[in-house]
Amino acid sequence: MNVKKILSEMTLEEKAGLCSGSDFWHTKAIERLGVPEVMVSDGPHGLRSQDQNLDNPGINDSIKAVCFPASCAMAASFDRKLIYEMGEAIGDECQHENISTILGPAVNIKRSPLCGRNFEYFSEDPYLATEMATNHIKGVQSKNIGTSMKHFLANNQEHRRMSTSSEIDERTLREIYLAAFEGAVKNAKPWTIMCSYNGINGTLASENKKYLTDILRGEWGFDGYVMSDWGAVNDRIKGIEAGLDLEMPGSNGVNDSRIVRAVKEGILDEKIVDQAAERILNIIYRYIKNRQPDTKWDMEAHHELARKIEGECMVLLKNEGILPLKKGSRIAFIGEFAGIPRYQGGGSSYVNSFKIVSAMSAADGIADITYAQGYGNNEDIINEELISKACEVAKSAEVAVIFAGLPDSFESEGYDRIHMSIPNCQNELIKRIAKIQPNTVIVLHNGSPIEMPWAEDVKGILEAYLGGQAVGEACVDVLFGDVNPSGKLPETFPRKLQDSPSYLYYGGEGDKSEYREGVFVGYRYYDKKDMDVLFPFGYGLSYTTFNYSNLKLSSKEIKDTDILTVSVDVTNTGDKEGKEIVELYVGEKESNIIRPLKELRGFEKVSLKPGEMKTVTFILTKRAFSYYNTEIKDWYAESGDYQILIGKSSRDIVLNESIYVEASRKLPFKLTVNTTFGDLLERPEAVEELKSFIDLVKVSMGEQTKGKDQEKSVAISDDMNIAMLKYMPIRGILSFGDGSITYDKLTAMLDDINKKLY
Ligand code: BGC
Repeated sequence: MNVKKILSEMTLEEKAGLCSGSDFWHTKAIERLGVPEVMVSDGPHGLRSQDQNLDNPGINDSIKAVCFPASCAMAASFDRKLIYEMGEAIGDECQHENISTILGPAVNIKRSPLCGRNFEYFSEDPYLATEMATNHIKGVQSKNIGTSMKHFLANNQEHRRMSTSSEIDERTLREIYLAAFEGAVKNAKPWTIMCSYNGINGTLASENKKYLTDILRGEWGFDGYVMSDWGAVNDRIKGIEAGLDLEMPGSNGVNDSRIVRAVKEGILDEKIVDQAAERILNIIYRYIKNRQPDTKWDMEAHHELARKIEGECMVLLKNEGILPLKKGSRIAFIGEFAGIPRYQGGGSSYVNSFKIVSAMSAADGIADITYAQGYGNNEDIINEELISKACEVAKSAEVAVIFAGLPDSFESEGYDRIHMSIPNCQNELIKRIAKIQPNTVIVLHNGSPIEMPWAEDVKGILEAYLGGQAVGEACVDVLFGDVNPSGKLPETFPRKLQDSPSYLYYGGEGDKSEYREGVFVGYRYYDKKDMDVLFPFGYGLSYTTFNYSNLKLSSKEIKDTDILTVSVDVTNTGDKEGKEIVELYVGEKESNIIRPLKELRGFEKVSLKPGEMKTVTFILTKRAFSYYNTEIKDWYAESGDYQILIGKSSRDIVLNESIYVEASRKLPFKLTVNTTFGDLLERPEAVEELKSFIDLVKVSMGEQTKGKDQEKSVAISDDMNIAMLKYMPIRGILSFGDGSITYDKLTAMLDDINKKLY
C-alpha cells in the first residue's frame, strides 16, 4: 500500500479527521480512498475489547478473554521469555478479535507504594521495567499487532492525574522516569506510544514537544505514532505541533475542525497535519498488510499459560519450614480471597475473564481442606462471629492458610491509596489465628507493598500479587510444592509508609507534584539511608538453596567505550529443582556525584536441577557505569573504581569485584577566579603551567595562617593549611596575598591557560 499516494489524495478535512478516533476504540475510515478503520483495545495483561456500550473506565462489559498476571506480578518473575510468551498469546487474541493495537505495556515507575495504579506498573527500577516492557512489546508485535507503551511520561500518581504537573529535574527524569521508555523504544520499537494525562514541569504531556518529539523521535528514533491517553487533549493545535498524532477517543469533530481552521488561517503548517496522518496511516497499514484473521486461539491453553506464568511470579517472602504443605493433610483455607481471589485491578485494564479459578477449587482433592470466610471485603469491619468461626477451623487443622490483601476499593486506577495497610479486619484475623495456630501461612493478593504488622507471628508468607485468573491454581501449585517458587520482589516493601522516599512530597500541592527525592527512588533511597526494610528489592526465597561462586570479570580495567563481560557460577545446593534470579548491581566506590550506592544493571533467571551448576554471563557497557550529566546532556561514566556486585537480593550481595573505568571524554572545564585551589590542584596540567603562581600562593597563604610570629605558630599545621586552601577560590590571593598580583593580572593569566589547555 502506498501511504504517500493515499496521503496525497486526502483532503485537509480527511487528514485532520484521521487524527482523532471515530469512537472510543476505532480510528476513522476514509471509504472514498479505501482506508479502513482499525480498533485499539486495552491492555496491558489481557484484552478488554468492547463491542458495545463503550466506555473507558472499565465499567461496561467487554468480550470474554483471559486475564494474565498484572505487571506487578509479571515483573516479579524477572523472566524475559515468559512475558514475551504472554505477549505472543495476547497478539494471537488480537489477531482473532480484529484488534490492531493493544494499549500497553504501562512502564511508569513505582515511585510510592500509594499509587493506585501500581499494579499495572512493573517496578521501582527502570532497568527491570525496561527489560519487561521490551519483551512484552516484542512478543505482541511478533504477531503483527501494535503496542502502545504508556503513560508517557511521569504519570506516577492517580491523585489529580489529569491536571497535576510532575516537577522533576533533568537528571532524575533521564535516570529514572524516561529510562524504561527509552530502553523499550530503542530495543523493541513499539508501534505507538500513549502520552499521559499529567504535565511535566508545567507543560501537559499531550502538548510537550520536548518529550513527544525531541527526545522520543529525535534522540531515540521512535517511528510510530503518538496517541493521547483517553481525554488527555487540552489544546489540540499545540498538541499536534508538539507531536501528538492521534487524539483518543476524539472530540466529536470539534478538534478536527479546529485543525482545519488553524491551517486555513495560517496558524498551523499543513505539513504537520500531513506528518501526523502519514504516521497513523503507516501503522494502520502495517497491521492491515499483516492481518491474520484466521488466527485461532485456545482460551483454555491461554488459561494454562496464565497459570504457568503466575507460578513463576509468586514471591516466597518467609518460610520457617512450613512450606511446601503436605498433600493429603488437613488444611484450613481462611479468608474471602480463598474463594473469590483478587486477581486484577480496577479500571481500564479490567479483563472480563472467561473463568476464574480460586485456591479453594484448585485445592479440591489435593488435601483435606476446610474453609472459613474470616472477613468480608465490602466493609472494613471486624466481625467477631467470622473471626471465631475462622479460629475454630484453624485450630482443628494442621496448618492455617490465610488469603489476605487489598480489596478492590483500596487500590484502583483513578485514585491513590491513602495508607499502606490492608483492612483492619484482616490484620485482626491474622493476629488472632496466629495466636492459636502456630502453623499459619499468609497468601497475599495486592498490587503494591503493604505493611505486615504480623510478619513475625506467622511461619510463611507468599506474595501472589494480582496474579490473573489462574491465580488460585498457581497458589496451590506453589503451596503444595508442584511449583518451586522463583519470583523476587520488583520493589522494596518498607516497614511503614513514612519510610518511603517520596513520603513527604507524594501527591504534591494542588496541581504541582515535586519529585524532591530525585533519583533516590526505591532501593536507591533505602540503601543510601542504610534503612531497615521489611523486604528488600530483589528478594525472594525458594524451596531449594543456591550457591554462587567464581565471579569473573573479563578485565580489571576498561575504557568506557569497552565492553565488560561478567560471569558467575550458580549451583543448586538443595534437593529440589528450582530457578534462581541472579542480580547484578554496579556501584561507584567514590564519586564526585551524589549517586545511589548501587543500581541494577543485569539479571538472569536460571533453572537448575539439584546439584547442577550453570555459569551466568552478563555484558556491561558504558551505560551501566554512567549517570546522566546535565552539563554535557549525555550519559557519563567518571574515571574511577566501580564495584560489580552479584546478589541474591539488593541486600544480600554474595560476591563482588572491582573494576577501574576510564572516561574517554573530559567534562568541559574552565579556570575562573572562582575555581577553588582544591579543584585546581586536581588538574596536573594546570598545576604544571601555574607552578610559580601556586608557589607564591602557598607562601602568601602560609604567612596568613601562621601569623607574623612564626616561632609561636603551633595552632595551624601544614595539613590544616592545605585543607583550608582547598576550598579557597583563586581570587583569595587578591585578599590574602602580598599584593603583587592584581585582578587584571590574574584574569589575564587564567585566560591564557584556558586558551592553552581547555
Ligand atoms: C487509561 C489508559 C487506558 C485508556 C483507555 C485511560 O483512562 O489511563 O491506560 O488505556 O484509558 O481505556
